[in-house]
Amino acid sequence: MMNAVCVLIILVGSINGQLLAPNSHQNVISRTSGNLLRNITGTQIYKDTIVTSPLDASLPIRMFYRGFREVYSRLLGETGQRDSGDSFQRHVAPSKAFPCPLDGFRSPTPPESVHQLRPGDIDIIAAVGDSLTTATAANSRALWEVMVENRGVSWSIGGQGTWRTHLTLPNIIKEFNPHLFGYSLSDSYNVHRKAQFNVAENIATTSDMPYNAKKLVRRMRLDSRVNMTHHWKILTYMIGGNDFCSDVCYQTNATQWINEMQEKYLIESLRYLRDNLPRTLVNLVPSPLISLSFSMDRVQTPFSCSLTRPIECSCLFGPSYSRDRKLFRSLERKFVKIMERVSFLAELHTKDFTVVYQPFFKDASVFYRGSKQPDMNLMSIDCVHLSQKGHAVSANGLWNNMMEPVGQKSSGFTPLFQDFKCPTTQKPFIFTNANS
Ligand SMILES: *[C@@H]1O[C@H](CO)[C@@H](O)[C@H](O)[C@H]1NC(C)=O
Ligand SMILES: *[C@@H]1O[C@H](CO)[C@@H](O)[C@H](O)[C@H]1NC(C)=O
Ligand SMILES: *[C@@H]1O[C@H](CO)[C@@H](O)[C@H](O)[C@H]1NC(C)=O
Repeated sequence: MMNAVCVLIILVGSINGQLLAPNSHQNVISRTSGNLLRNITGTQIYKDTIVTSPLDASLPIRMFYRGFREVYSRLLGETGQRDSGDSFQRHVAPSKAFPCPLDGFRSPTPPESVHQLRPGDIDIIAAVGDSLTTATAANSRALWEVMVENRGVSWSIGGQGTWRTHLTLPNIIKEFNPHLFGYSLSDSYNVHRKAQFNVAENIATTSDMPYNAKKLVRRMRLDSRVNMTHHWKILTYMIGGNDFCSDVCYQTNATQWINEMQEKYLIESLRYLRDNLPRTLVNLVPSPLISLSFSMDRVQTPFSCSLTRPIECSCLFGPSYSRDRKLFRSLERKFVKIMERVSFLAELHTKDFTVVYQPFFKDASVFYRGSKQPDMNLMSIDCVHLSQKGHAVSANGLWNNMMEPVGQKSSGFTPLFQDFKCPTTQKPFIFTNANS
């Protein structure tokens, strides 16, 4: 998914059969050595963690891709600041109270167990993933804007504004704990300080997650605000869309690839997080990308979408691969099941680390649950990414899943705020496999 530049990089990468190997380079490179244009844009960046994806390790790619993106976003300005239109959340009036009671949902002293976490106990929020976590194109109104990453509005990790203007997981948790940090502040790329603990990267696939996880841990360790053993963290881990949009059709044996490779990368990254991020609850979320794409088969999509989809999701919309769509869909369904199964592996659950599978995206659709009318305003202008409204609806879904016991979690979208779950005095904790 993403753009012509990415496609170019994928093509270059796939000559070797895979993207540049993560281990073939040094992890820390001075920022200035990689970006000739830094002094022109002057953006604040993470100096010590420049390598955020294997692609960054290659100096020519870094110079070209980063420099291009910096200048590009400078020219276009902050599309993330827009906040009105059909594809934006309607603002909630100041006279309306937050939908949940807040008193009693932060423990007087931090709990010892991950199975006794109240929403207000969360100190730090983080995310790994792909362009749906970077909020690419969320606020775009024109095709040339779709490369801007509106990280501040991202469903799982954006912290721009408040829940009244931008419903996101951090903006919900902020109501319970105003000292929460780690959320993205506004439009930014991975290396920018404003991205904070959102290390998601466009076109990332499951195979990039071990790498993504390492970068996140490193960024947190270097941050003086973080006390690893003391602070409680929520990490939302959503991946899989690009595996089926951009990777699956290049595999000689796609079935084997899903069965043998993808599960391995999932487990490897989660083990790493377990061993390096104490006091963490991981929301493991399947990607909505393929389900959303298929739901639009029944909808008349705007012309702009027929230009973007073959580029951003070539395995499903490129003419040479579309005959295998059914196969790719069934493999994607299989992958979602693998993800769920992995979330239950006993080794991934300790006293202070756990993984919870959150299924609300599993059956994502432009049709709300039970509705016969599509809401295309959930989608960005490219029909691949979510709009700001789509991000808000997703945040509502993720939050509801966290408030629903394992085994009774809902999936699919509902109109914003129509169904907004709250913790209760009897059940004050974020649900995990152990306390459900
Ligand atoms: C770019 O900025 C850095 C830090 O401010 C400075 O040391 C360097 O000389 C500048 N480079 C150029 C080419 O102006
Ligand atoms: C982290 O927090 C614990 C408990 O409050 C404290 O004992 C410890 O000194 C803190 N570590 C750092 C590096 O601040
Ligand atoms: C793909 O790999 C599986 C083993 O995982 C094998 O059973 C199947 O025959 C292979 N398919 C092709 C077309 O080679």
